[in-house]
This record gives sequence, C-alpha cells and structure tokens, in this order.
Amino acid sequence: MSIIKNITKELENIVKQAGYEVDNLVLQPSGRKDLGQYQLNDAMPLAKKYGKNPRMIAEDIVKILEQNSRFTNINIAGPGFINITLTDEYLVELLNKIAANIDENIDKEETKKIVIDYGGANVAKALHVGHLRSANIGEALKRLAKLLGHDVLGDAHLGDYGRPLGLVLREIKERYPNLEYFDENYTGDFSEVELPITNEDLEIIYPYASNKAKEDEQYLEDARDITLRIQRHEKGYYDLWKKVVDISKEDIKETYAALNVFFEIWNGESDEMEYFDELKQIYEDKNLLVESEGAQIVEVATEEDKAPMPPLIFTRSNGVASYETTDLAAIYERKINFNPDEIWYVVDGRQSLHFEQTFRAARKADLVSDNVVLEHIGFGTMNGKDGKPFKTRDGGVLSLKSLMNLVYNETYSKITNESIQEQEKEKVAKTVAVAALKYADLLPFRGTDYIFELEKFADLEGKTGSYILYSTIRMKSLLAKASELKQEKMQLIGGETEKEIALTILSMPTVLTKAKEARSLNDIAEYLYKLTSLYNKFYSENKVLVEENQQLQESWLVLTKLVYDINILLLDVLGIKVPEKM
Ligand code: ARG
Repeated sequence: MSIIKNITKELENIVKQAGYEVDNLVLQPSGRKDLGQYQLNDAMPLAKKYGKNPRMIAEDIVKILEQNSRFTNINIAGPGFINITLTDEYLVELLNKIAANIDENIDKEETKKIVIDYGGANVAKALHVGHLRSANIGEALKRLAKLLGHDVLGDAHLGDYGRPLGLVLREIKERYPNLEYFDENYTGDFSEVELPITNEDLEIIYPYASNKAKEDEQYLEDARDITLRIQRHEKGYYDLWKKVVDISKEDIKETYAALNVFFEIWNGESDEMEYFDELKQIYEDKNLLVESEGAQIVEVATEEDKAPMPPLIFTRSNGVASYETTDLAAIYERKINFNPDEIWYVVDGRQSLHFEQTFRAARKADLVSDNVVLEHIGFGTMNGKDGKPFKTRDGGVLSLKSLMNLVYNETYSKITNESIQEQEKEKVAKTVAVAALKYADLLPFRGTDYIFELEKFADLEGKTGSYILYSTIRMKSLLAKASELKQEKMQLIGGETEKEIALTILSMPTVLTKAKEARSLNDIAEYLYKLTSLYNKFYSENKVLVEENQQLQESWLVLTKLVYDINILLLDVLGIKVPEKM
C-alpha cells in the first residue's frame, strides 16, 4: 500500500478513536496552503450521519490528532474543515522510504490478465498518422497496467485478412505474370522462390491496385477470387500471400519499434480466422445466425436501445466474413490461448459501433464468461490546423514515417549543444523527436481531438517532451557532478519549494491509479510537467553544489535523485526514452 494510502488509513483510525465510523476518508491536498497541506472534509457528512454539529465533530477529531506527533498546524476552518500538515521530520522519513524503494509510492492492484489490442496496422499499406494514437496510448496503458501489477499482453492484431491483400496479389500478377506462384504446375518449394518486391513497392502497389479496381470490374473480380484462394490456403497464392505479409511485417515492426512500441503477440486477423469454422459452429448451435438477403447476420439490438442498433453481419452473401467476425474470432482465440480477465481495444473512437456490435454478439454466444471485461478504449483524432484529421498538403494521408521525419527535422534544428558530434546528434534528435511526438499525443485526454503543432511540440519550454527530457538530463548531470558528495539519506527539508516537491511526490500513486481508471495518460503527462517544473524552480533557487550546510546539501541531492528516478519511471510508462545528453 502506498504511503499516502497508509496515512489515509491512519486518519480513518483516528476518526474512529474520536468515536466516528468513516470509510473512504479523503485526504484532500489543500487549496489554501497557508492553512495546511491537507484538508479533511469528513466532519460534514459525519454530522449528517450522527445528527451532530460538524464543528463539534471536527473538534473531537482534532483532539486525537493533536496527540499524534506526525501532524502539525492542525486547525478547523469554516463549518468543520480540518486542516493538517505533516511535520518536516515525518516528510523526511517518508521521502527516505520512497527513495529506498519506489514501490512504496505505488498502489499495486489485484493482478488481472489483460490483453490489449492496440496495433491494427494493415499489411502492405504504410502505417499512417491514424495508427499513431493506438500505438502510443496502447503501449503506455500496457506499461501502466504492468506497473500496477497486472499481467498484460499487447497484441498487434495486424490487418492481414480480406480484400486489400487480394488486390495486392492481383497487381503483382499483373507486373510479374511469370512468377512461379501463379504457375499451377509448379512443384518446387515456394520458400526458395525469390520475390522481386520490397516494402516500398508494396506501399505503391496497394493504392495503385485499389484505384484500378474502381474502374476495372474484371480486375476487382479477380482480386476477390484471389482473396478466397488465400483464405482457402490454396497452393501458390497462399504462399505468395505469406511472403508479402512477412515483408510488410518486418517494416511494420521497425516502424513500431522506432516509436518504442513492442507487442508480445504478433497475430494478424488471419491467425484469428483459423478459428472461423469452430466459431461458426458455435453460432449455428446456438441458433444465433439469421439469414438475411443471402447474408448470415446476428441480431444484437435490445429493447433498451435508444438509437438504432443494426445487426452484425457474420458472413456476407458471397460467404466472406466481415470485419466484425474477425474480431469475434479474435475474442474466441484469445479465450482459448490466454484466458484473459479483460480485453482492451485501443482503437479510434469512430469505431464504437463496430465494437458495440461485436461485444454484444460475443456475449450472446457466451464466447467469454460474463465477468470478462470487453472494453473499447476510443480516442479522438490528431487534426491539422484546419481542425480536420491531419493530411498532407495535397490532401493525402500522411505516412507515419513522414510525420516522424517532420518532427525529427524540428528537434534536430533545436540541438545546440556543441559537445555533441554530428552522428550522435542525429541519434539524439531522433530520440527527442519520438519523445516530443508521444508526449504531445498523450497530454490531452485520450477522448479529445488535438491539433498537430510542430513548433509547439518540439519547444524546449512549456509542456513538451523536449522540456521534460532536457530537465531530466540536467538532474542527472547534477548528480554526476556531485558524485564525490554524500547522497545517502535525506536529513532535513528546508524551503517551501522542497516541501511542495515532497507533497507532489506523495501524490504520485493517486495519479497512477486515476490514469488507469480513466484509461488515459493525460494526468501522468501533466504530473511529469508539474514535478519537473517544481524541481526546476528549486534548482534556480538553490546552488546545490556549493552549499555549505552538508546535511542540507545531502538532502537536496537525495531529493534530486528521487525526482530523477520518478521522471525516468514515468517517462518509461509513457514509452519515452531519455538520451544521454541533449
Ligand atoms: N485494421 C483496422 C483498421 O485499420 C484496425 C483494427 C483495430 N483493432 C481491432 N481489433 N478491430 O481500421
């Protein structure tokens, strides 16, 4: 249990000693620092419960509080607000505890097995800005849930099933008709066949084929036919498909890795669809499939629905499974292979109907038991200055790589540290670019849209990844310069800024728990900014290295190390790496 929670429990006990039962007492950071560090508002509800004057209750509580040497400056304000302050000695003791073991500052939760689906990149198509937020938010939520004690797996859930791949293969056939893959009489080993195609080619081929299919009916028909052949694992086409997937997957992995995004499971929709027959059997056995104009559908509307809830299309009239069905298959597969307590989908908020339909259909067939959480964690879009989803100048979709390049150019131009050599400078600029982009992406509440503002995101001042990295590196270099000095234990706490830092540190567990509950990283991003700014204030107020009071100097260094450690920990939760210098 975190320190702040322990104090809360202790206060509940004190209230009990005063003769009152209170559960879930709230230790509220005070809005009026002159009155106290914290405020207890419980006398008012207790007054209702016990039919007494709140001020009298507050006085009863204060009597006991005053016997406790850990609290000071205890006073009652207004109708019965109790203000309290932790003594300096107590604060020092608490900070030393946290410095020795940062887990003292985290409220671990009962371990749940959680699968997080936050990839969704489509094979043979370039990752674009639309994939950025799932990757950033999903990765950070995964790290946060792990930190809080959960057993979490990230699933890339690649879009490798369905017509886009049929189109790609159709176009490859156009360009290389003599490839062995298209030769029905070929008897050799396909793994030895060279495919003269790179990922860059694929990124051109897909849009090309997709446009062509809009004008050429026969071409589209061929692509449909190839799609079915792939799904039937037909020799040749299936082997070519696998090769295309592998080429694309390599590139997708690289792009995600550049963003510090790593999946434990690299399944694609096609892997899930291996379970399609079993899945269909379940729906048939439970009489859940209804025939409608040749398609098989599952009714998911209920009487309580206020808005229309269309049925889920299980298979279309041509027998092909829908996007919803791929997600049903994924739920089924995850149940078999991982048996999770929760499945989270970090996917664009505009897909909410898709998930609502899918979850309802999954529940109807009892694909998972009732207590398994299925949750769509939707997010808003990253917009351009015009307020519409971010586009290139000519109106096209911007690839994620190009976006990262834009930010890189900006962060590169901002590195003025002359001790950094050219080669290293490029590396540093890359790390800072990822930090700037990720921090800006995680700073707004996930549900809201935000505007991509290059100069602002990469600024060294203000609420930015660059500012936090820069400050964190400065803490580290201060500690390195002081390596000969004692940095063991905090001895005393001097000024107001240090106390504010201390209280901010104590509030960390609340921020983490709240962020996990909200499935949003914005509070953590804000917290990092707050802690860092407070530290910088302290840094400008004091000359740590030349301080003559050795006890104070040691305390300052320990505090610096603690803030540094917390920054590293929380930046890691956000999936942000810290360069050596910048
Ligand atoms: N591949 C899909 C797309 O690009 C996103 C997949 C999201 N995840 C899911 N389980 N449906 O729209």
